Amino acid sequence: MTDLSVATKAGKAAFDVDAVRRDFPILDQQINGKPLVYLDNGASAQKPIAVLDAMDRYYREMHSNVHRGAHTLGDRATSAFEGAREKARSFLNAGSTREIVWTRGTTEAINLIANGLAGRLQPGDEILVSHMEHHANIVPWQMIAERTGAKVLPVQVTPQGELDLDSFNSLLGDRTRILALTHVSNVLGTINPIAPLIEQAKARGIITVIDGAQAVPHYKPDVQALGCDFYMFSAHKLFGPTGIGVLYGKAQLLEEMPPYQGGGEMIERVSFERTTWNTLPYKFEAGTPAIAEAVGLGAAIDYLDGLDRPGMEASEAALLARANELVETVPGMEIIGTSSNKVPVMSFKIAGLHPSDIGTLLDQQGIAIRTGHHCAMPLMDFYGVPGTARASFAFYNTLEEVEQLFTALQKIQRLFA
Ligand code: ALA
Repeated sequence: MTDLSVATKAGKAAFDVDAVRRDFPILDQQINGKPLVYLDNGASAQKPIAVLDAMDRYYREMHSNVHRGAHTLGDRATSAFEGAREKARSFLNAGSTREIVWTRGTTEAINLIANGLAGRLQPGDEILVSHMEHHANIVPWQMIAERTGAKVLPVQVTPQGELDLDSFNSLLGDRTRILALTHVSNVLGTINPIAPLIEQAKARGIITVIDGAQAVPHYKPDVQALGCDFYMFSAHKLFGPTGIGVLYGKAQLLEEMPPYQGGGEMIERVSFERTTWNTLPYKFEAGTPAIAEAVGLGAAIDYLDGLDRPGMEASEAALLARANELVETVPGMEIIGTSSNKVPVMSFKIAGLHPSDIGTLLDQQGIAIRTGHHCAMPLMDFYGVPGTARASFAFYNTLEEVEQLFTALQKIQRLFA
């Protein structure tokens, strides 16, 4: 494979993409007789051996239920599970593990928060989202609005795919109670300027909820520096397992919120007269949690911490820059989402081709992308398209793979458009 290493600005050892790829065994296979080119990382990222091994070892050597057993295996499992929580805390730079709640993923985290905040909403109150949100950051708010009489208002986006700040400023008002924004758009790749928007919202006492699902695979957020009230992400997009996600919430707000689900673990004491809740974060963790998955996520965070992060970011930027350069080699190709502040995600259409046909034809050449509405139908309506084709890159992708994508698109365009 061509050496596509990118030297870091800091002058550290070059980010060695070939070495990194060896950590991801799934990448080394043929699909439809061609080497796999995996460009569907925005939907779900692949897992390094470190994650696979950590989960395997957990089940081989330490599985038991957590916080329950008066025995050694129970202690081992609990310490691995709580150790993973500490890694998640450190990854987000949260102040305390009390503020780190395990959920099934970003979607469940937003539903938990929406339900928890419902009691604060009155008829006519406003929840501000944006036109570029994933359905997971629209529908839970609509459901709560239906219950409470509140309204969900979308901040507009510009044709380039950035938040329209005039629209934001005009919608932020006396009735705004919650601002729920994505950090990075899963369709456009746009990195939203959330820090100043959070600051504006906080000055008005508005609760801020940030969907970090598409941000964390590319960089580490610092929730204390951002000052947001809630931040959530899914492990499977962060090179960890499916079935687990992280909700960060400011302790005081979590304390004030009612539990989301009832059952074991989330209680302090149960009686038919009166049941009381466990302390944070367990109040929000009813039932046996995803223990092995927490351990796997912890291993993913350790793995990422071991990478040369500036090198990784430079490598990703180079992938996007190369993709942007090659767009003009495919007649009729148009990028949706042209902000200059993007993660390496490229949504596109090609005149005369349906996005799902592009996906199928690419798959025949071993190239995996996502097509469709990407769970962002309002954004598709805004751009007047039924869907897009989307290539989403990770740090283990190579410039050679970007070139393979474009060679395949040129062929598809020539033969089918
Ligand atoms: N939300 C994920 C995506 O954008 C599944 O593909």
